[in-house]
Amino acid sequence: MLTDQAEKLRKLADSRRGGARFIAVTSGKGGVGKTNLASGLAIAAADLGLRFILLYAELGLANVDIVLDLSPKCNMSDLVYGKRDVFDLLIDGPGGIRVVPGANGISSFADLDVAKRVELLHHLHKLEHEADLIFVDTSAGISGNVIQFCAAADEVIVVATPEPTAITDAYAIIKTLARTEGTGRLKFLVNQVTNRVEALRIAERVVNVSKEFLRTRVDPFGYVLADPHVPVSVRRRRPFVLEFPYAPASLCVKTLARRLHANPKRERGGFFERLFGFFRRSKAS
Ligand SMILES: Nc1ncnc2c1ncn2[C@@H]1O[C@H](COP(=O)(O)OP(=O)(O)O)[C@@H](O)[C@H]1O
Ligand SMILES: [Mg+2]
Repeated sequence: MLTDQAEKLRKLADSRRGGARFIAVTSGKGGVGKTNLASGLAIAAADLGLRFILLYAELGLANVDIVLDLSPKCNMSDLVYGKRDVFDLLIDGPGGIRVVPGANGISSFADLDVAKRVELLHHLHKLEHEADLIFVDTSAGISGNVIQFCAAADEVIVVATPEPTAITDAYAIIKTLARTEGTGRLKFLVNQVTNRVEALRIAERVVNVSKEFLRTRVDPFGYVLADPHVPVSVRRRRPFVLEFPYAPASLCVKTLARRLHANPKRERGGFFERLFGFFRRSKAS
């Protein structure tokens, strides 16, 4: 039975051509702004004409309800334990993006048994032709979930703030990702900076340390200014790019979105194939 499932997945992987570019957004430390920046970037990129899906892989947390003020009827756990299709989960979010709510009640992707994992991957695979870009908003830290999503993604945006602990923790996750087979190109985004010079200084340090000590290439992706409009929007449960379109943080995010738009191509093979690789390896163990 497992062989059948593996065979089915293999066929799906083989048939997969084109499709969305998957970008995982992660960090070493929590609370650095991943969720806000991911939704801000998604909305700004959608405004430029990219079809965007935001997938909440922060398993166990009911994120979309709080951040985007959406009331999903089902979430990723219904894919695994219920009779739902991934298209039942896709909900229209603000600013023309679509959202897949995270999985309440599943603490870890790795906790799922093989059959359930296959099922979940099957479902997620269907999204690949639904969008140009799929952001996976992960939780912080080096859990199995985060590593699996990041290793399978086309690119990983590692977010940090200027706080020393955030930078050290970002370095730690880069170190882990650098060791993971199949890791996509790593990008570094520094949030809540006072000015451009501070951002450049921090990014340069992370890029150089990664190169020197990990032999890993990390590309600076840019920066977002510390901006009091962001927490105000969070309290209003509205994305800051929509609530304050001309606020400093919004302008930064729009610049980053233009960067994504200018280079929408995937640079590696398929997200699904790589997740499939994980599935095969975990089956063997
Ligand atoms: N550019 C910014 N300027 C000011 N505050 C910010 C900025 N980005 C994020 N924040 C604040 O940081 C908090 C954590 O952000 P969040 O996106 O939830 O982080 P994460 O998803 O990494 O845990 C939010 O409450 C938000 O108000
Ligand atoms: Mg978050």
